Amino acid sequence: MPEATFHFPRGFLWGTATASHQVEGNNTNNNWYRWENTPGKIINDNKSGLACDWWGGRWKEDLQRAKNSGQNAHRLSVEWSSIQPTPDAWDEEALEKYVEIVRWLHKNQMTAMVTLHHFSDPLWLVDQGGWENDETPALFARFTRKVVTALKEYVSLWITVNEPNVYVMAGWVARAFPPGKSNLRLAANVCANLVRGHAAAYRVIHELQPEAQVGVAMNYRSLKPARAWNLLDRLPASIQNQLFNNAFQNTLVEGTLNLVFKKINIPEAAKTQDFIGLNYYSRDLVKFDLARPGTMFGKNEYPKDALLDGLKWAHKFDLPIIITENGVEDDKDALRPRYTIEHLHQVWRACNFNWRIKGYFHWSLVDNFEWERGWSQRFGLWGLEVDTQKRIRRTSVDVYETICKENGISSEMVSKFAPEIFDTLFPS
Ligand code: BGC
Repeated sequence: MPEATFHFPRGFLWGTATASHQVEGNNTNNNWYRWENTPGKIINDNKSGLACDWWGGRWKEDLQRAKNSGQNAHRLSVEWSSIQPTPDAWDEEALEKYVEIVRWLHKNQMTAMVTLHHFSDPLWLVDQGGWENDETPALFARFTRKVVTALKEYVSLWITVNEPNVYVMAGWVARAFPPGKSNLRLAANVCANLVRGHAAAYRVIHELQPEAQVGVAMNYRSLKPARAWNLLDRLPASIQNQLFNNAFQNTLVEGTLNLVFKKINIPEAAKTQDFIGLNYYSRDLVKFDLARPGTMFGKNEYPKDALLDGLKWAHKFDLPIIITENGVEDDKDALRPRYTIEHLHQVWRACNFNWRIKGYFHWSLVDNFEWERGWSQRFGLWGLEVDTQKRIRRTSVDVYETICKENGISSEMVSKFAPEIFDTLFPS
């Protein structure tokens, strides 16, 4: 049996990612709380409730678990609605809690990456139009200034907006997220305002902290035609690809938001990212289907993974790359060990092309409130018993721990945790 280890670059960041509304609990002042309390919006009308009780203090035990299992970084988000509960008030105590968390990470030699906007918005903001309102980018920049001033001693890695593409599609096209609309004109405006908000935040962060590294976490989906020769499959695939994967990110290079049916100039957004944040979950093949005008006549299928496609996409921006999310919902932990190894093997391959990949954040540390899918999907390395707050150590913890501690994937660990792919990874 061949013995070898696929080594990752020195200093590679190994972490997990979380988001405020999904883990903190008792988050009652944002649009998601209102959405959860509107019947029929969340699977089984689930509520985030206490979530993982991070606000009650359990962040420390979870992050301690992360540290003990070899992780050297963590990505978390700050909750705008807690820090700025009303338009003209800051909650210094709430802000101090985040300072405490990032200070703890720093003391424990874990690099903190902080996301400023991860899907949730304060109620006062949505009641004045949220991101449909052209004044929101400036308000976001103000919020950013407050947060960065407080946290910059311990944080220099920032994500302005998490998955603007998912936020817009789910909220203004598919009706899965608040505000549950289906309106392309508004969707375009929200997208443009998110670009403006990002650009303004980028400038504020660099003004306060010149050495900061700032990016966006983009949900990349490998949208390829199911039949490459078929024009009818190619057309919806290429439109979906432009709208979903390219539109936002290209604006941060060129300053023009190209939404296929509409172009919006946002010159101040040109050259406003220092790295590419890549969130990757699964691959789509797009087939032409006349019955689906809402997806540009494309029916999407999900065969085996294509993280390497995502890395290829990210690489063309010629910036460092961080995998800001990657994971799978798997309550039984039947797929996750293999999924994690296979995906990290692809990351390792890309590192060997000398692509500048700086780190990997698994989604997620512990099961948490999965948005419109409530508690029905479990993405944690650790499981969570929601009623008792008990954490359950899944085999995937051992898998990821071995990788983090070795800074590599060894033949020994593959034969132990995913023997079915041993021959593919280590051919004799
Ligand atoms: C989001 C996370 C979410 C994960 C799994 C990503 O789109 O950023 O908040 O939990 O996917 O669905």
